[in-house]
Amino acid sequence: MSPVRVATRPFPGQKPGTSGLRKPVAVFREPGYLENFVQAIFNATGGGEGRSLVLGGDGRFFNREAVQRILRMAAANGVRRVILGRGGLLSTPAASCLIRKYATDGGIILSASHNPGGPEGDFGIKFNGDNGGPATESVTGRIYTATQEIDHYLTLDTAQTVDIDCEGPQHLGGMHIEVVDPVGDYADLLSTQFDFAAIGKLLANPRFHMCFDAMHAVTGPYAREILEQRLGAAVGTVINATPLEDFGGHHPDPNLAHAAELVARMNGDAPLAFGAASDGDGDRNMVLASGLFINPCDSLAIMAANAHRIPAFAGGLPGVARSMPTSRAVDRVAAALDIPCYETPTGWKFFGNLLDAGRIRLCGEESFGTGADHVREKDGLWAVLFWLNLIAELQRPARSILREHWLRFGRDYFTRHDYEGVDSGAADALVEDLRARLPALPGQVFGGLTVASADEFAYTDPVTGETSVGQGLRVQFSNGGRAVLRLSGTGTAGATLRVYLDSYQRDPALLDMQPQKALAPLIAAVEALVDIRGRLQREGPDVIT
Ligand code: G1P
Ligand code: ZN
Repeated sequence: MSPVRVATRPFPGQKPGTSGLRKPVAVFREPGYLENFVQAIFNATGGGEGRSLVLGGDGRFFNREAVQRILRMAAANGVRRVILGRGGLLSTPAASCLIRKYATDGGIILSASHNPGGPEGDFGIKFNGDNGGPATESVTGRIYTATQEIDHYLTLDTAQTVDIDCEGPQHLGGMHIEVVDPVGDYADLLSTQFDFAAIGKLLANPRFHMCFDAMHAVTGPYAREILEQRLGAAVGTVINATPLEDFGGHHPDPNLAHAAELVARMNGDAPLAFGAASDGDGDRNMVLASGLFINPCDSLAIMAANAHRIPAFAGGLPGVARSMPTSRAVDRVAAALDIPCYETPTGWKFFGNLLDAGRIRLCGEESFGTGADHVREKDGLWAVLFWLNLIAELQRPARSILREHWLRFGRDYFTRHDYEGVDSGAADALVEDLRARLPALPGQVFGGLTVASADEFAYTDPVTGETSVGQGLRVQFSNGGRAVLRLSGTGTAGATLRVYLDSYQRDPALLDMQPQKALAPLIAAVEALVDIRGRLQREGPDVIT
């Protein structure tokens, strides 16, 4: 069995977005498409010779096939060692954990996150560096350049497949493959972060009922091991626990619309005290208290305010970070704790340098992503355990923890309106026009609200000094409301416009409004400012979070 060069040509637009390269399965099945991107990873990162890699994915359709192809390519590129999750499975945070624990040179994760799977669904691939985190902006740029310059890739002249379902050592050509239990190391790591004895006691309390919805995605085996086996939650606490190639035909997207079964159980005959769900690759989380949904922006703020109660953070926090469109709830906590709060562009990669430098230990995004320095990815189950640890420690239900937080810090009402699959040209023109108008906006009135300031977000990494421009248009109104508009970097069909809206409320009598109602004046002002519906030919947003 020896390496062969296969001639190929660049595919236009193989540009990784916010979280790797994500396309319909049909595109990934075009001859050479997957291979070009994988070869580009090697070409852009100094080649595969002598390297070690972690490999695994969320189990969606094409995962197993892609694993075999990547193994052959890795061997042909001279990779020395691959740590592979059994069955080709690894959640994104578990992959990050393995890269760090076994000090590999990086990892390749196969996932299109919360996008639907199956032959008609999406597939994705991302590269993580040796710190366990998503490739930095500069590495991502080099990978893209390599995809556009490629003329051949390397693979083996064999159709031999590796038995990826059998744990233990294997060989392919000169490459050593270690097939590992995808769950064990990650579960061990989480057990060092939290008070498992206290959580176990909470779960044993007959009055505390919870449900975790794995949405037929990768977290099923993780949640079963951690919640049901190690923490002793009742069998059946984890629902939809078997990973399926098409996620049972659903979107593995933990929000109120897609986690319908969980929502129904929360409000069923025997209402639950706590509910949670995670996405396709296990990095997102949704947390539900009885009768209400805890916005991820509030969740991050509550974690920051209570971190000292959790074993991993007993010594306090050096700083925190949030993505720019995330509400400023955590900023208020950081100010009270007198620690820095960094504001980064959308996407987890920007947190990595801050975590590596020890400037922050906790960070999050409005898009159901929360995490800490135990790995370099957002981590769904970690967030769930944080909440359980907090409920156990405070001996109070999630609902009252949330209310008390608002009473102390005020409430940042937040919502995100997504316009999906819109015409790319129309979306680009909308953004360009608004960008051109930004300097003239201050002082102008829209829907009764006066613009206080307007700009386009740019970020200079305080650790590396690298600057990222074009990270979202921001309009601040004089009533304290803020609107952010940006185009998604993860969509696979047309363009997705995201409109983020937030507004601060201190009045204790006004803390329990419906967010859409509380934000109605701001929503109207943005519509008057941009005419989104007219320009995109839509009646309204496709998804409201
Ligand atoms: C979306 C989210 C972003 C998240 C990313 C990967 O990216 O908005 O916060 O980091 O998915 O999970 P977008 O489609 O907005 O570029
Ligand atoms: Zn994800």
